[in-house]
Amino acid sequence: MNTKDLENVPVSDHAAMIEEIKELRKKRNAVILAHNYQIAEIQDIADFVGDSLGLAQQAAKTVSKTVVFCGVHFMAETAAILCPDKRVLIPDLDAGCSLAASINAHQLRQWKKEHPGAVVVSYVNTTAEVKAESDYCCTSGNAVKIVQAIPVEKEILFLPDMFLGSWVKKVTGRQNMQIWMGECHVHAAMRPEMVTEKLKQYPQAELLIHPECGCLTPFLDHLADDPKLQPVKVASTEGMIREAKQSTAKEFVVATEEGILHRLQKQNPEKTFIPIAPEMTCQFMKMITLEKLYKSLRDDVYHVTVDEDIAHRARLPIERMVSIF
Ligand code: 13P
Ligand code: SF4
Repeated sequence: MNTKDLENVPVSDHAAMIEEIKELRKKRNAVILAHNYQIAEIQDIADFVGDSLGLAQQAAKTVSKTVVFCGVHFMAETAAILCPDKRVLIPDLDAGCSLAASINAHQLRQWKKEHPGAVVVSYVNTTAEVKAESDYCCTSGNAVKIVQAIPVEKEILFLPDMFLGSWVKKVTGRQNMQIWMGECHVHAAMRPEMVTEKLKQYPQAELLIHPECGCLTPFLDHLADDPKLQPVKVASTEGMIREAKQSTAKEFVVATEEGILHRLQKQNPEKTFIPIAPEMTCQFMKMITLEKLYKSLRDDVYHVTVDEDIAHRARLPIERMVSIF
């Protein structure tokens, strides 16, 4: 089947589309990177599936000429900054992030003025302009280590996720850390009662919880007071994948976006994974479909570029993020 023929194939004909995507990937010397929240078909065809840190690391070391980023826009931007000589494509330019939208560069400059001399640590879920105003970037996979790497006497401005920020503050015991009041609408919707309810239903289950979760802070306080703790692991999406494999538990309650269940279940068919709530879906991540991926490769769209001056200033904080893990 050639590319022209495929235009007449119904979107539902996934098998034909998958074959064509594989052909185009070869022809364009492209690598397909997919985040753990992508739909199952995208995860299955990707060359690499991972969390924000893993995807940035893969982008940094790829030898392919084109990187097709199946994730959200800030992730593709990060790849574009790390690989200025590659062509970075995203299948849908509207795949944004509510957390990244919670702070802009102007707001950050104002905040810095109020705290002269403070070190700025930005979560990777930020625009390139915000990264360019930062000293360090971090992901949920290495936020604790990044904060620990900063001299204790230095004040830290941590942004934009308040739940991740307060968790890092708790784990590191860092007092001089200011936290921006941003949140991800998906994770902020997870309430402590939802976790408690699920753990009651599955008393043998281990809890896997993403540090962006709104349920995290009160829930961890609650756990600290409870002598009969069920095992709990706070982790990035990739940390959850690792934990599920190495843990002896047979059941897991998963508190993050539901897309990760596909990989968890695929890699651990003998274990059971229970979503905290099946409606925990990020509509931005789900904008990437097989059809859009096919069109992206076929038409060489949509090219993600970052202004050279911004990219230049954002590169150091991103490189620090990629090297500390
Ligand atoms: P991870 O880096 O843990 O994959 O998280 C990215 C994200 O967007 C979580 O909502
Ligand atoms: Fe952004 Fe939340 Fe979606 Fe992650 S789940 S990409 S933080 S909106």
